[in-house]
Amino acid sequence: MASTGVDAPGRAKIDVRTLRTDRWWIQPLVTFLALTAFVVYSAWRVFSGQYYVFEPYVSLYYSPCLVTTCDPGAIPAGPISWWTLSPALLIAWIPLTFRFTCYYYRKAYFRSFWMSPPACAVAEPHGKYTGERRLPLILNNMHRYTFYLALLLNIMLTIDAVAAFRKPEGGWGYIGLGTIILCVNAAALWMYTLSCHSCRNAVGGRITHFSKHPVRYKMWTFVSRINAHHMKWAWISLCTVVLADFYVYLLASGILSTDLHISF
Ligand code: FES
Repeated sequence: MASTGVDAPGRAKIDVRTLRTDRWWIQPLVTFLALTAFVVYSAWRVFSGQYYVFEPYVSLYYSPCLVTTCDPGAIPAGPISWWTLSPALLIAWIPLTFRFTCYYYRKAYFRSFWMSPPACAVAEPHGKYTGERRLPLILNNMHRYTFYLALLLNIMLTIDAVAAFRKPEGGWGYIGLGTIILCVNAAALWMYTLSCHSCRNAVGGRITHFSKHPVRYKMWTFVSRINAHHMKWAWISLCTVVLADFYVYLLASGILSTDLHISF
């Protein structure tokens, strides 16, 4: 088959891989290391099935907890009794597919994992290019649907963040380091989700006259503004996800004996 890559007929013949003289490889390398670390950490936590509740906190990897055997305090305990593996496996696919199909992350892993291409003006090693027209990459088109599922998860995580103000012995009036971390994480995830390109299309797409839809125009204006920083929110929320889960893990596993907090 004729090459559709940089050696395709009609493309300029350049003997070197790139004419760039800067250190273009740093960004894909850092992205590769950071995403690999995140995947390894998440896999460890999702498959472990333990240390995910420390009253009043619950790890976001396990919320909502859909099985009847959740740790006491998980919000809410679910109806599924036949599941014997880690309960996180029942919900982890939602944020996973949401991030994997995200327009920004596609750019990130196309460059850093598949080197397709690794950077602007750097030839990719592949001989042909089929884009996202075939399996498996055509599945990236389901991003718009995973967006709605991610919204539901965000609502759940926001409830968890509010619930983190409850005293372990009952009643409200607790603020711990974990409360702050869960709130920051929920806020970062909302910014990441609302700045999504699919969200921008959902609120402002398929409209001929914005003047006839002033509310949607306002929403679209807001989403467009934060959409310009989508990459930033993708990374910030990735970090807060790990931070929030790791803090719950430290407490639940006993590595940290107490949560810094005030009660009133
Ligand atoms: Fe990144 Fe939708 S484009 S979450």
